[in-house]
Amino acid sequence: MATNAEPQIGTQVRDDAPQDMGDLRRTKYCGELSVKDAGSRVVLMGWVNRHRDFGDLIFIDLRDRTGIVQVVCESGGSREAFERAKRVKPEYVLAVVGTCQKRAPGKENPNMATGEVEVIASEIRILNAAKTPPFPIRDEAEADETLRLKYRYLDLRRLPMQRNLELRHKASMVIRNYLSSRGFWEIETPMMTRSTPEGARDYLVPSRLEPGKFYALAQSPQLFKQLLMVSGIDRYFQLARCFRDEDLRADRQPEFTQIDIEMSFVDEEMIFELVEGMVRALWKEVLGVELATPFPRITYREAIARYGSDKPDTRFGMEIRDITDVVKNSNFGVFRDTAASGGTVSAICVPGYAKATRHELDSLSLRAKALGAKGLVFISYLSGEVRSAVKKYLSEAEMTGIKDATGAKEGDLVVIAAGPIDLTVSVLGRIRLDLGARLGLIPEGRYNFLWVTQFPLLARNQETGEWEAAHHPFTSPVLEDIEGQDFSDEAKARIRARSYDLVLNGVELASGSIRIHRRDLQEKVFSLLGLSPEEAREKFGFLLDAFEYGAPPHGGIAFGLDRFVMMMAGASTIRDVIAFPKTARAACLLTDAPSRVREEQLRELGISVTKDKALVSGENSDQNDR
Ligand code: AMO
Repeated sequence: MATNAEPQIGTQVRDDAPQDMGDLRRTKYCGELSVKDAGSRVVLMGWVNRHRDFGDLIFIDLRDRTGIVQVVCESGGSREAFERAKRVKPEYVLAVVGTCQKRAPGKENPNMATGEVEVIASEIRILNAAKTPPFPIRDEAEADETLRLKYRYLDLRRLPMQRNLELRHKASMVIRNYLSSRGFWEIETPMMTRSTPEGARDYLVPSRLEPGKFYALAQSPQLFKQLLMVSGIDRYFQLARCFRDEDLRADRQPEFTQIDIEMSFVDEEMIFELVEGMVRALWKEVLGVELATPFPRITYREAIARYGSDKPDTRFGMEIRDITDVVKNSNFGVFRDTAASGGTVSAICVPGYAKATRHELDSLSLRAKALGAKGLVFISYLSGEVRSAVKKYLSEAEMTGIKDATGAKEGDLVVIAAGPIDLTVSVLGRIRLDLGARLGLIPEGRYNFLWVTQFPLLARNQETGEWEAAHHPFTSPVLEDIEGQDFSDEAKARIRARSYDLVLNGVELASGSIRIHRRDLQEKVFSLLGLSPEEAREKFGFLLDAFEYGAPPHGGIAFGLDRFVMMMAGASTIRDVIAFPKTARAACLLTDAPSRVREEQLRELGISVTKDKALVSGENSDQNDR
């Protein structure tokens, strides 16, 4: 069997003068061919996916965005086609004229969508040659992601990536049609604007006409969509590009797309109904899946207590149980002292994990410590025996109490943590997710949507310790929570917001709120945030002005479209559903952005880059991990 020796990357193409398409017109896409086409003449255009030369017989797998079909050239057929077929290489661009035929019995390829047919070539035109690509264009991403991003146009030739982009397109169309049918208008808002209140670092754009002044790239259209409500637009949406300079990870990009929605004269229920309809339409029309609505709801407080997370993955159990009352008088000092100091003793039950080895338990404890806990206590129920380092300190009743509270059965492992409430539940929440994934307890193919409601209105800034808006400062509080005059820290922490997130399988897909539209309430919230009227005016003056002219009650929500499509595509990072994404260091490896600019460009803008900064970024730009 003759094989193709793999040429070196970047080898010069042969001196094959490409031919013209001439009057040839495509009649079919490769992936569309089926037995129904047997006997008909077809003209295909595409790329060589694979080329196998058996001497008298050459097979070319031809690829376009719909799929791959096998083209056959026989030495006994068209001589010219055969000679050309001998010269093609992977990624050459071809026009193939031929006859579609059913493959001989036994020669079908069940792994190929078009595997029942093949095309017997009568004419082949080489429309363009190609260098050897830096990685083979196969369905599986075998190449390192850095290389894939540098040669993104080749990576996007892979069919799974094309499926993702197609799915994204379809999802956008369904969203646009759905919202339009519900009376929403798509309106574009500025990208170059003032800083918006989402709270990440801004990307700044220097002004040439007013040197020393800057635009901020919009972190979201938040202020503009509220202004549109003041304008009487009533129902607005936009597939809006947003920019945030924040730490990046698998589900975050510096520029991403929101499905941004705002409505007038609404409450939470109306927004939930609208969104559930949209998600149902998406799943049905794009994935062919019927979702049950309404989606379940949980308050923020309950989510934290049961799952240690404000975005619980409800596809599996292992919920956190508070066992403080059961052990508060026990002889185990850690439990007793934690309870006495107002902390919590909480537990999760890991089904079937009593057989965990010493080493596995040690690494769980290490993980808990890395997350900030003091340690973990384990109780295992194996072969009718109860084993635990704390057994000797706990009474029979306390041991039974723990078993009952956690629902532990023979074969299970109970994991207990004690300490301040927030930290303890969050550590158990992380361990729950780790173990759920590692032990295969999370069922595949399920879409567990969940509304998380009534987040705290205020949160402390982790660096400065100051109170700030947990969502943004125009989010309405639950009115009864701010009726009194007690603005102590504890009271502030307890104020609930009329805000909500939509979560899917543990991923935050969307976030929104009912907004404040009354001046007195807005002033009260600003004062809770420690913003003086002057500071508020300086930051949001134009919005506050607009609110003086008859703002309607309104509310809205914004979805991360990239996350949405990632979940629909079953991808593990949003980079796989964005045509040209950036790396974790916010770099575009394809265009090499960000890049230095000419001195005169800087001079025109009145900007000078300090040497030490330039040096630091210069060093970084050589690193591979950007
Ligand atoms: P928020 O800041 O929560 O709300 O953003 C809404 C949704 O946008 C997505 N998202 C991101 N996706 C990818 N990369 C990022 N860096 C990124 N940041 C956010 C998430 C998130 O749920 N103006 C408010 C919405 C409103 O109140 O109507 C806002 O932007 O899926």
